[in-house]
Amino acid sequence: MNRREFNSVLIGSVAASLAPLRLEAQTAPRVNSTRLNGHLTALSEFGKNPQGGVSRVAYSDADRAGRAAVMDWMRAARLDPKVDVAGNIMATRAGSTPALKPILFGSHIDSVPEGGNFDGDVGSLAAIEIAQTFAEHGVVTRHPLQIVIWQNEEGGLYGSRAVSGQLTADELKNVSTSGKTIADGIRFIGGDPSRIGEARRTKGDIAAYFELHIEQGGLLEAAKLNIGIVEGIVGIQQWEATVSGFANHAGTTPMDQRHDALLSAARFVDMVNRVVRSVPGRQVGTVGRIQAFPGAPNVIPGQVTCTLELRDLDDAKIARLYAQIRDEATKISAQNQTTFAFRSLHVNTAAPSDPAMRAIIGDGAKALGLTSQVMPSGAGHDAQAMAQIGPMGMIFIPSIGGISHSPKEFSRPDDIANGANVLLATVLAADQKLS
Ligand code: HGY
Ligand code: MN
Ligand code: MN
Repeated sequence: MNRREFNSVLIGSVAASLAPLRLEAQTAPRVNSTRLNGHLTALSEFGKNPQGGVSRVAYSDADRAGRAAVMDWMRAARLDPKVDVAGNIMATRAGSTPALKPILFGSHIDSVPEGGNFDGDVGSLAAIEIAQTFAEHGVVTRHPLQIVIWQNEEGGLYGSRAVSGQLTADELKNVSTSGKTIADGIRFIGGDPSRIGEARRTKGDIAAYFELHIEQGGLLEAAKLNIGIVEGIVGIQQWEATVSGFANHAGTTPMDQRHDALLSAARFVDMVNRVVRSVPGRQVGTVGRIQAFPGAPNVIPGQVTCTLELRDLDDAKIARLYAQIRDEATKISAQNQTTFAFRSLHVNTAAPSDPAMRAIIGDGAKALGLTSQVMPSGAGHDAQAMAQIGPMGMIFIPSIGGISHSPKEFSRPDDIANGANVLLATVLAADQKLS
């Protein structure tokens, strides 16, 4: 047994002798709401935009600076944060029974461009606040706890999918919103893509994973409920579509002799909306980015790249919609002799949460006198990657106006504290219930 292991056993055995009586939600400590909401305000300075909100995209200077601040807050919470080879920030809080698998909880702090101050940040800072609250109250759980800040959630769950084993080597070549490749971005934040396989964990390596997150929709606010208990997270698949035509003079090329890539792309965008709305259900489809080349007013676009994203709780429905969109794209091509090529960007598989974890969250909310409902997540989350390797539970708090991925994103400080207290109670209850 090396020194580190000996220390861990020593801490565990001392802690076991001091372990307080079993903590129920009613008797558990509460988070320090002022400190938690203060950290959220401080984090909003990193990548701050003049119109409000942030552009703290993964692998940007603002992302790296925000990560450094978060690691300082982790140290103040008596944690010892490390950056893993995949670029995720992880810190372990020893449990009284080191042999038990860890309970993980956390979220992400990278944002979309011109995003808000709560998406990911609430769950990340609440996790740190819970660790600090446990330290201040001498709470020692049976299971080791791992507080995690996932890297590049917004680009496609890159950090959590490296841990769940779903990240492919090819994806390291993808270019992120920051302009860096994923591999360069991981190096930029302190990881080592050449060793990314070492981040991999397999089913059974974790006892459970929990994530607190803003709803990013308006259901909780409309129903005047405090807490959402996530039943499942949608599958998300993204492709890059390249439309190829023929660049030519905009003045001398007759209208019936053009191979206008942007005209085909425009028809494609309209078709995606029509196909996705043609079947009943909550599925959604989006063309979020489009670029025409060469991009001059007097040149017929010879090439267009755009993104296609499809989401649904049922991966098979995504596959059916994609097949139909491909068929329709071929018909569009035939109208003006252009061609479509599709390249998969990433696949986030749909993930149900664990029924036992849902029950624990519901009991915690109830014990805290909070109202709740079970609901799906139309947004993707690192929790769907973690669901591949262990039981997952996810907690929502209301998003005011249902707005997210926008400077207008807002959640109330009391709701944030409620969510953090439900997460705290959930971690304690899971610690007792999980063998
Ligand atoms: O795109 C999403 O659903 C998440 O916010 N990354
Ligand atoms: Mn998020
Ligand atoms: Mn997001």
